[in-house]
Amino acid sequence: MIILTNFKAYPSAVFENARQLVQTHIEVQTDILKTRPDVQFAVAVNTLDLQSLCKEFSDHIDIYAQHCDNAHFGSSTGKILPEMLYQMGVKGVILNHSENRFPSENDFEALRSTIACAKNAGLTVVCCAETAEEGAFLSQHSNADFIAIEPPELIGGDVSVSTSRPELISESVTKIGEKKVLIGAGIKTGKDVSIALKKGAIGVLLASGVTKSSHPNTVLQNLATAHQ
Ligand code: G3P
Repeated sequence: MIILTNFKAYPSAVFENARQLVQTHIEVQTDILKTRPDVQFAVAVNTLDLQSLCKEFSDHIDIYAQHCDNAHFGSSTGKILPEMLYQMGVKGVILNHSENRFPSENDFEALRSTIACAKNAGLTVVCCAETAEEGAFLSQHSNADFIAIEPPELIGGDVSVSTSRPELISESVTKIGEKKVLIGAGIKTGKDVSIALKKGAIGVLLASGVTKSSHPNTVLQNLATAHQ
């Protein structure tokens, strides 16, 4: 099971707070692994925090970028280079997140080539989609490793996708395939994770449930002890 926390740009999850939150993930993961070797935490941190956090922690937890560009060394002003991310120790990248979407169907090529660029650099790609149909399309037409299904209207809210739209999880798994679907939006509890796993997801992508909690270690423990 994968539990990927997207730090976004929450004040509680940038700069020194990001450092502490990564440490909390590592502590909980170390503890959980004794009884649940199947649980894998990962953190997607702000671009500006990537280098320092990778230096300190990339041997202990998988660190993801929240975005990258289809760009290479050389004349690439202002771009986030997948090759540089990889060299820094970044494990993977989230692409096409609802809050940072590639221009839709009309320009799928831009997303596809960015996924390919990230994969060629050695990164694991979590490609986001807003519907099961979009997820299936992206899965069929790219080599993304995982497809994260997140209904945008539930992102950052109190109602989880697991409790309000469990059928979306099964539908996504049917259309996209097993061991490929992450589910996200409003995920906060072990129960949310259990439903996601029961419906066939390989894990969850979440943010506010952890980043806005005053006890992130308790939340993470709760998420990680969820059973299928
Ligand atoms: O990338 C994770 C995300 O968009 C879900 O956010 O706050 O609903 O867990 P949240």
